[in-house]
Amino acid sequence: DHHIISMTSFSKDMIDHILETAEKMEPIARGKQKSDLLSGKVLAVLFFEPSTRTRMSFETAMYRLGGNVLNLGSIDASSIAKGETLADTIRVVDSYADAIVLRHPKEGAARLASEFSAIPILNAGDGAGHHPTQTLLDLYTIKRESQLEGLKIALVGDLKYGRTVHSLCYALSLYGAQITMISPRELRMPEEIINDLENRGAKVTELDSIEEAINDVDVLYMTRIQKERFPDPAEFQKVANRLKITPDLLKNVRPELRIMHPLPRVNEIHPEVDKTVHACYFKQAFYGVPVRMALVALVLGAMK
Ligand code: CP
Repeated sequence: DHHIISMTSFSKDMIDHILETAEKMEPIARGKQKSDLLSGKVLAVLFFEPSTRTRMSFETAMYRLGGNVLNLGSIDASSIAKGETLADTIRVVDSYADAIVLRHPKEGAARLASEFSAIPILNAGDGAGHHPTQTLLDLYTIKRESQLEGLKIALVGDLKYGRTVHSLCYALSLYGAQITMISPRELRMPEEIINDLENRGAKVTELDSIEEAINDVDVLYMTRIQKERFPDPAEFQKVANRLKITPDLLKNVRPELRIMHPLPRVNEIHPEVDKTVHACYFKQAFYGVPVRMALVALVLGAMK
């Protein structure tokens, strides 16, 4: 299966191979080496939800490897505004490009698209479902800035609707990570995912505050409380602003502690934290480029 839909179908060997390939891509991602590996190849990017990092790092990945990008652009300026279905859109674009990157507000959209596409579909986020390419860059960041084997990590924030943490915890279970979940009660990790993780042999703990975990973990993985996922705005107001990292909170922590965030942030990490040795989130955003270079090169068969 050449589609990238969910982390649940990845083995540890597959992930390790992608991370090793990404490492080889890093000098090209930084503009220090030139490559025409994907010359003549076209990557279509279809974003039905806003994005900065995912869309632009996929585009940069293609340009750095000498390939081309076909961008659907704004939904309003496409025939989706006339009522064209996702299935028909995919059937058309699959005859224009070599692979499709898709972000969509509905859970399961990437899986549906894969049923109508002969070319690889790369899920760039499907509602509150999964965000597997984010997970691969998260793992790459952990490997580069902390360590993957024997990792202790706390996932913090919106664990109910957060697709980045849904995908990430499945991958972490392959590395024997100890996972601490920290969220408002209303935004707990879905029970079904916790059961899956325990069945995969992961050690999972649930806590209410960052303070309880901060001295016991290697990585704090922060996430935004996502206003757009709440059916009722009053429910959002109840949980907004509860879990935050401030300079005060970091006063006595080990220098090795790393803070990650898929971004965008709202106010869950104070800007003063950016200057500390712990802040990793802007590096993390850069690592999306070599990781997505590796992914596209592998799915298009340009590398083995
Ligand atoms: N991390 C992430 O998915 O960012 P964007 O929404 O900006 O793509």
